[in-house]
Amino acid sequence: MKMRKIVKYMGLVAGLLASVHIKAQKAAPIVVQVNEIRAPVSPTMYGIFFEDINFAADGGLYAELVKNRSFEFAEPLMGWDIRIRDNADGNLLIINRGPAYDVNPRFARVTVNNDTEVLAITNEGFRGMGIRKGEEYDFSLMAKMQDGKESALTIEILDENDQLLGKTYLTINSMQWRPFHASLVASGTSKKAKLKLSFTKKAVTDVDMISLFPKNTWMGRPGGLRKDLVQMLADLKPGFIRFPGGCIVEGRDLANRYQWKNTVGDISNRKLIMNRWNVEFKNRPAKDYFQSFGLGFYEYFLLADDLGAEPLPILNCGMACQYNSAEVAPLETLDPYIRDALDLVEFANGPVDTHWGKLRAAMGHPAPFHLKMMGVGNEQWGPQYVERYKIFAKAIHDRYPEIKLISSVGPHAGGALFDYLLPEMTALKADIIDEHYYMPPSFFQDNARRYDHYDRNSPKIFAGEYAAHVKGKEGPEKSSWQAALSEAAFMTGLERNADIVVMSSYAPLLAHVDAWQWAPDLVWFDNLQHYGTPSYYVQQLFSNNKGTDVVSIQQAKQVIAGQDSLYATAVIDKVSKELIIKIVNTSSSEKQQDIALEGIRKIGPDMKVVTLRSGDLDAVNSIQSPENLAPVETLVKINGKKFSLVLPPYSFHVLRLNMY
Ligand code: AHR
Repeated sequence: MKMRKIVKYMGLVAGLLASVHIKAQKAAPIVVQVNEIRAPVSPTMYGIFFEDINFAADGGLYAELVKNRSFEFAEPLMGWDIRIRDNADGNLLIINRGPAYDVNPRFARVTVNNDTEVLAITNEGFRGMGIRKGEEYDFSLMAKMQDGKESALTIEILDENDQLLGKTYLTINSMQWRPFHASLVASGTSKKAKLKLSFTKKAVTDVDMISLFPKNTWMGRPGGLRKDLVQMLADLKPGFIRFPGGCIVEGRDLANRYQWKNTVGDISNRKLIMNRWNVEFKNRPAKDYFQSFGLGFYEYFLLADDLGAEPLPILNCGMACQYNSAEVAPLETLDPYIRDALDLVEFANGPVDTHWGKLRAAMGHPAPFHLKMMGVGNEQWGPQYVERYKIFAKAIHDRYPEIKLISSVGPHAGGALFDYLLPEMTALKADIIDEHYYMPPSFFQDNARRYDHYDRNSPKIFAGEYAAHVKGKEGPEKSSWQAALSEAAFMTGLERNADIVVMSSYAPLLAHVDAWQWAPDLVWFDNLQHYGTPSYYVQQLFSNNKGTDVVSIQQAKQVIAGQDSLYATAVIDKVSKELIIKIVNTSSSEKQQDIALEGIRKIGPDMKVVTLRSGDLDAVNSIQSPENLAPVETLVKINGKKFSLVLPPYSFHVLRLNMY
């Protein structure tokens, strides 16, 4: 956790009430009844939502630096620049083998007709390639000789000004397709580097799957994930990871839906498709946005494993995005969709002698991934969803009664679609419903009590996608302190209702500063750097301080959910024996607040106070100033069970105290 640690008294008054200056109109004290346990906090309470939007996977978490490595984009040479000298004697063709090679039909055939000729192809990467001085890079490709005994390949990494950052050579000398590998150490740093391949010898060479990866990936896995970005996810200590979305699950039409079986096994056999965010927003077109599935379901499960998070796959239920094509698979044709769901459980959990368990083992993970839940559809709505959900639920629960299902209640957590689905799903005794809200900051502050009055007999709640959207801001500027502060206020309501709210995740997670479609987002990155938004730190402070049990915290015998702009929740951690209090002040004025701890023998003497605050609601972090707004930790001595806090304007505080 990035945090500035300051061990001293700071911006906070502690001590006996008697010793504190009492203002004329002092608010009633906040009373924490430590022995009044309200509900256990689910270990999955705070998780992460991953979708390949904003170049989150290809061009982001998936560390591949070459764009369109297998020439399978709609325009097969997109991202590639082909250069041959004037009067040159050679060419490059894209060979398409057609339906017999449905998964990866195309490759490039490079012809150089004499030894003095050079044909060069350059890949531009995902808005450039991030290259770091002193780091090693693994180059690879699939190749074979079509004519001639061998061909000579020069591999260069160049910066944006064509300055050489690394160079190596390969001889291709196989008559059959096979992989070739080389590595380079970069002599310089660039965010906008490119990869140049020069064919320098008379030959006809077939090439495919041209790839460049940093060696230094997460866990050092070859062809793996970008280390700095995974670390940001790990620092959230997520209870679960939801994947692969989001609308990407649904697809613009059924053909464009996410099909997990196409994302596992050898990467050259994962059939690329257009990313739906390629064409979704006319004002943010991304015509080079495709899904290579190098980050596929196996890698998602592995990531969940690495993070100690429960895997939560969301599957298509025979319905494409209802905002786009609204295609549905007729009920009598649902079998393949249901098969996918059942087979996924076998892929994740099945013994290694089952068909899908065997594939998991062959990919490197004989041990099960312990899948416990999955989502049926994303933002589906209407009776069409209910009838499909019923069929899915029966098939999955008949075979795997232990698997919990997440069901849709539509794209909004309110309105006609929601009002229809909530009672339907309640009547069906759905396990967990998935509520989504992308709303203005005021909604989040006004809805801190949303779950206080939910029927405790209704399904459990997954606040599956939410973020405060500030009007009048664009891109990274939308990820502001105003948004984050209101989310913090709202999250106190999630935590207070931990008996019914068992999961939550902010969305979306990642966004490339040069290639985003949707804002705000939790973490922004470019090809080398990244930063957490204020919302990231709010998520982190809740998740890293979730404790084990919610306890009573009240002011004037009321839950604290917006009276006088204060929001608060309290938990205990039975393992570390700590009391953890979260307090949000959304007002523009400083507050002095008395706090009394009851139902506990002894507490303190030190109190750790972590504060996230800014007087400027528009404050954001950025690549240049990644910790403009970040938590500050202070250690404070307290003398007893009553003390007073100064809560600056627009501030969020987490207090941790040892209990005896
Ligand atoms: O998070 C971005 C999108 O918002 C998701 O894909 C979708 O589920 C929601 O509408």
